[in-house]
Amino acid sequence: MRGHELLRLLSTGQFYSGQSLADQLGVSRTAVWNNIQYLKKLGLDVFAVQGKGYRLAYPLELLDAQKITTELSSPAAGCVDLEVFSEIDSTNRYLLKRMYETSPGRVRACLAEYQNAGRGRRGRQWISPFGANIYLSLLWRFERGLEAIEGLSLVVALSLVKALEKLGVSNPMIKWPNDIHCEGKKLAGILLEMSGEASGPCHIVIGVGMNVNMSRFSDTTIDQPWTDISEKLGDLVSRNRVAAVLLENMLETLAVFERKGFAEFKNDWQQYDVLVNKEIEVQETNNMRQGIARGIDDSGALLLETSRGQQRILSGDVSVRVSRD
Ligand code: BTN
Repeated sequence: MRGHELLRLLSTGQFYSGQSLADQLGVSRTAVWNNIQYLKKLGLDVFAVQGKGYRLAYPLELLDAQKITTELSSPAAGCVDLEVFSEIDSTNRYLLKRMYETSPGRVRACLAEYQNAGRGRRGRQWISPFGANIYLSLLWRFERGLEAIEGLSLVVALSLVKALEKLGVSNPMIKWPNDIHCEGKKLAGILLEMSGEASGPCHIVIGVGMNVNMSRFSDTTIDQPWTDISEKLGDLVSRNRVAAVLLENMLETLAVFERKGFAEFKNDWQQYDVLVNKEIEVQETNNMRQGIARGIDDSGALLLETSRGQQRILSGDVSVRVSRD
């Protein structure tokens, strides 16, 4: 037994004695104890009270592929093959390894409760505590090759802010190119990964990490200000619902993007631009630039007004400059 069957019982949030867990799972009490330690290692808040047994700090709604797909509108549900994992290294890595295992007209997607090697942008780690958030990857095949994906990451960000609005979150914003922020704190991030040839159809893995109930479920330390949906809505949030709304919005948006390209989305994207007219610093691989953010161009590049004129930024880490006076 891995801890996951145990977790299914504990997810109700009620007390279970060690003996009743052992009986229901058909294992020894030592095996139960070992698995409780494993759940704690995943970051779950399991506590024991003498005479009562074990309990989770909060009831936990586990991800359920069937629940999610039944919430999708029929065209979206009809084309997606969704897998849910309890534990995985990284959902992006999983789909990257299966890049070419797609069926015509189908979209592969996967979700995980926990990633033990979650990947962030620029080689960073994406901290992925169990059952707290959404870790979602989707594999999309672009028939028209690499040029056709200019602006893709910005468009995915747009689909995320629209999904958040649908869920009732007010004022989600995008920090170029594709970080989702709410009142200055990060709520979601996007990582696009691809492998393959420059010409011909290309396969891209689109990974989304969205904080949902992070503040309730985890005391994780993250090196930048962050927030989550439950903080915005003031309640625990159903991750199955969040996953369904996200998937639906992403699938719809990607289909339009594939037909019409970035131009269709540019104006809409600019309404969510958190950086526009702010003094910013852009950290590139070997270079730092400063200036005033002036929105984006038709390809999605960031326009930076500098002392040497306007410059286009294609990638980099942006921070807003703090006034020194
Ligand atoms: C960022 O650094 O802002 C991007 C974070 C992307 C994290 C998601 S979680 C699901 C998918 N699998 C990964 O390993 N990373 C992405």
